[in-house]
Amino acid sequence: MLRRNFLQTIAGAVIASLAGLRSGRAQGNEALRFDHGVASGDPLSDGFILWTRVSGAAGGSLPVRWLVASDASMKQVLRHGIVWTDAWSDYTVKADVRGLTPGSTYFYCFEINEARSPVGRTRTLPVGAVAAARFAVVSCSNHPAGYFNVYRDIARQDDLDAVVHLGDYIYEYGLGEYATEYAEKLGRLPEPSGEVTTLADYRRRHAQYKADPD
Ligand SMILES: [Fe+2]
Repeated sequence: MLRRNFLQTIAGAVIASLAGLRSGRAQGNEALRFDHGVASGDPLSDGFILWTRVSGAAGGSLPVRWLVASDASMKQVLRHGIVWTDAWSDYTVKADVRGLTPGSTYFYCFEINEARSPVGRTRTLPVGAVAAARFAVVSCSNHPAGYFNVYRDIARQDDLDAVVHLGDYIYEYGLGEYATEYAEKLGRLPEPSGEVTTLADYRRRHAQYKADPD
C-alpha cells in the first residue's frame, strides 16, 4: 500500500487538465513516439497502473494522455487523463487508473501530439471467492541469449488473469560475460556493451529490452 500511496501522490502531483494537452506542447519535440511499448500491472479490483515511455523528447515537461476503453479499437473510452513526464523519469509515464469494474478486461493506450502507443490489454482483480485463475509465469529474460517469442505467445492468450515475472527481468552483464556467446549471431548485442552499473546504464539496458517487438 505504501508504494501505491507513493505512486498516487506522484501521479496526483503531475496530473493536469485535458486543456493542458494543447497548451503543453513543447517546441522541438516534433517526432515524439512510443518506442518502448506499454505495460500494466499492480492490479486492484477497481484499477491498475499503466506504463509507457515517450521517445524523441528534446527536453522540458510533456503531457501524455492515457485512455482506457472496453474495446481493442479504443472506441468506447471509459476513462482518460493526463500525466506529465520529463527527463527526471527518463520520459517514462505511470498512470494510476481507478474507478473500474472488478474482474474485467480493459484496453488502454497513450497519446502525445499525433502519436498513439500500441494498445495494451489488462484486467482488474476479481472480488470475493474465485473458482479458478490462470497465470503465465516467466523468468530469466536474457536478451542476448535468445528471442522473446514466449512473451509474444503469452500476449496472444486472452484467457490469462495475470502474467507473473519471477525475476531476472533484465540482465546486467556485458558482452563476453554470462550467456552472451550467441549475442552477435542473434543480432542482440548488449547495450551498453559493458556491465551496467549506473542509472544511465540501466535506463539504456532496460530500453533495449523494451524495444524488442516481442
Ligand atoms: Fe534467472
